[in-house]
Amino acid sequence: GTATRDRLRIAIQKSGRLAEPARSLLAACGLSWRESRDKLFCYGESLPVDLLLVRDDDIPGLIADGVCDLGVVGRNELDEQAGERARNGLPPAYRELHGLGFGQCRLMLAVPEEWEWQGPQQLQGLRIATSYPAILAGWLQRQGIDAHVVELSGSVEIAPRLGTADLICDLVSSGATLAANHLKPVENLLDSEAVLAGPAGGFDDARAGLAQMLLRRVDGVLQLKD
Ligand code: PRP
Ligand code: ZN
Ligand code: MG
Repeated sequence: GTATRDRLRIAIQKSGRLAEPARSLLAACGLSWRESRDKLFCYGESLPVDLLLVRDDDIPGLIADGVCDLGVVGRNELDEQAGERARNGLPPAYRELHGLGFGQCRLMLAVPEEWEWQGPQQLQGLRIATSYPAILAGWLQRQGIDAHVVELSGSVEIAPRLGTADLICDLVSSGATLAANHLKPVENLLDSEAVLAGPAGGFDDARAGLAQMLLRRVDGVLQLKD
């Protein structure tokens, strides 16, 4: 929406890996909210900055629709949905404003342990299971590989054993899930971490100043960390 607002609304993950570090970072930036951990909306007290607790997958769309002004979300999710928009002929709706230094993971191709990996050309004609079809399709295209992308929303690592795919493309953090499923990582498609995302076009009301101040504070907090 284009409605003028004088409060900033930030979407963060309700529960999951990014939830607690996102809250801590924003608190370290001087934000505080009326305590309502069970609620999905937290009213900002120290500053006119409110929190919306949502599923991480919904954050890019909420920014694109103007429902939220900023979001803390994985670069993997942001890039995937940006790629999907591009494939549907839609203009970019959001952009990464700042890497946040937590939630690090990689989007990797992983193959059965016993495979001898010789390089991307080996993928020609194979079936790859993933929750990141747009990022994977873009990578395959750049490599000049024609392979079949099998889209799954979760438990991607089990696909080779089920015979629904030959290999997978999924997030790897500790590597424990791959190892448990007898898969080994072979190609890195994306280095991901939590990022602060905002609208491609920026703001033209009071939110511009609030967002600028928040970004400066985020920068300050992150510099203290290293
Ligand atoms: C992610 C990812 C992998 C796993 C990797 O799944 O999809 O399955 O974590 O982590 P590891 O390398 O430390 O084992 P998540 O637990 O977030 O669940 P989801 O796939 O259902 O989103
Ligand atoms: Zn998710
Ligand atoms: Mg998973």
